[in-house]
Amino acid sequence: MVYYPLSSLMLAGIRDILLISTPSDLPLFRKTLGDGREFGIRLTYAEQPRPDGLPQAFVIGADHIGNERVALALGDNVLIGQGLPDVLREAAKVKKGGQIFAYRVPDPKRYGVVEFDKKGRALSIVEKPKKPKSNWAVIGLYFYDNRVIDIARSLKPSKRGELEITDINLSYLERGELMVEQLSRGLAWLDAGTTDSLIESGEFVRAIQHRTGLQVACLEEIALAAGWVTPADVARRAQKLGPSDYGRYLRQMLADRASGIS
Ligand code: G1P
Repeated sequence: MVYYPLSSLMLAGIRDILLISTPSDLPLFRKTLGDGREFGIRLTYAEQPRPDGLPQAFVIGADHIGNERVALALGDNVLIGQGLPDVLREAAKVKKGGQIFAYRVPDPKRYGVVEFDKKGRALSIVEKPKKPKSNWAVIGLYFYDNRVIDIARSLKPSKRGELEITDINLSYLERGELMVEQLSRGLAWLDAGTTDSLIESGEFVRAIQHRTGLQVACLEEIALAAGWVTPADVARRAQKLGPSDYGRYLRQMLADRASGIS
């Protein structure tokens, strides 16, 4: 799962990544991903002791963020599709305010929901509304300027007892500094945060991978295309992964590149 959000950040051109998870899960992420070198990125880790809400990421990660802008990718979100790298790179360029994305879904009640005016400008955002004003759900990938740290520090818990990312978005929206881009239907956004949606996401990714013979969210492939690692680096990684499907895929990818097949 963690490969998908990492791939979104990498496609946006982001290489300095803090992975935040529970004290019990963090060691496994660290073991799996190491310092990120094999994917051409710098990975560091931090614990979130209690699930007190997404905005805590900006407080926990304040030192990591420093004076920079920041993106947050949720660990259970999957984004796939043509044109995605362009969309993400553009979002990462935004210097002031916030940039988020909305995706049309049939069941918006599970999400933050955006109401748009006729010109496609965001009017309101409501977290898990009983009566959604649209079908546009806020996806779990957020880009903010540095003020997000102070905004996160000033939030109070919602009725469900969590700090809400929607309150951060509203804070930018009220200042007229939130861009909400509607993602086209050519892109697929999947939220794998429930048992059903996890299985559905797995089926979706498998269907694409089987049909194209290409791996979705292959971090080594993304890093290679970006020039962050060399073919020799990927070959070493493939060797480490042995006869697994993923190791085989990496070896085939390198062979195809070397022979000019793509
Ligand atoms: C969170 C956000 C929600 C957003 C969703 C995307 O929901 O609070 O606004 O639409 O992620 O996956 P949660 O995962 O906390 O239910």
